[in-house]
Amino acid sequence: MNLLDKFHNWRRKQRWNRQYKQGRWQSLRSEKEALRYQKIIEYINRFSLKNPSILDIGCGDGLLTERISPEDYSFFLGLDFSNESIKIASEKRLPKAEFLTADAVKFHPKQKFDVIIFNEAFYYIHETEKQNVLNRMLKSLTEDGIIITSIYREGHGCWQYFKEDKRLKELDFTTVTTDEELRYWKIGVYKKS
Ligand SMILES: C[S@@+](CC[C@H](N)C(=O)[O-])C[C@H]1O[C@@H](n2cnc3c(N)ncnc32)[C@H](O)[C@@H]1O
Repeated sequence: MNLLDKFHNWRRKQRWNRQYKQGRWQSLRSEKEALRYQKIIEYINRFSLKNPSILDIGCGDGLLTERISPEDYSFFLGLDFSNESIKIASEKRLPKAEFLTADAVKFHPKQKFDVIIFNEAFYYIHETEKQNVLNRMLKSLTEDGIIITSIYREGHGCWQYFKEDKRLKELDFTTVTTDEELRYWKIGVYKKS
C-alpha cells in the first residue's frame, strides 16, 4: 500500500471503531444473519477434522465464536483491526478463545490453523493486499485444513482469488438466501489441492 492507501486504511479503522462503540454492528445478531453463521458452522463440522484450531480474520466482536459450541474447537483466535471490537469480544471471556487487535495485512500467525475464516472480511482488505493476505493464510493452514469465505451478495473482485488459485480446491460453494431478495451471502469452502 502506498502512503495514501495507508492513510485511508487508518481512516477505515477509525470508522469501524466508532461504529462498534455506537453498537451499529449489533444488527449482525438478527435472525437473518444467523443463517450465515449457521452455514459456516455447518461447514466447519462437515469439512474440518474434529476439534480444530480456528482463525477468524476480521472477527468483529466475536459473534461467530459465541455461536460455535466450545466442544467443537480446540482453540479459537479472532483477529480484527478494530480495537473496539476486540475489546467487546475479549470481555465475553469465551472458552478456549483469544482475541487480538491486528491488521490482516500485516498479521503473521505464530502457528498453523485447521480452519481459517474470512467471514464478511475479505472484501475490506485493500485490493493490493488481498493476494498477499491469502498467500500468508495458505502458509498458515495445516495440510488438511480448510478456508471458509463468506461474502455478501456477489463479492465482485473477490471470488477469483479463491476460485482461480490452482493451490486451492473448492469443496463446496453455496448461496445463503433470506426472504429479502438483496440480502444473501455466498460462502465457499476450500482446501489445499
Ligand atoms: C462486516 S464486519 C464482520 C465481522 C464478523 N466477521 C462477523 O461477521 O460477525 C467486518 C470486520 O472486518 C474488520 N476488518 C476490516 N478490514 C480489516 C483488516 N485489514 N484487518 C483486520 N480486520 C479488518 C472490521 O473491523 C470488521 O470488524
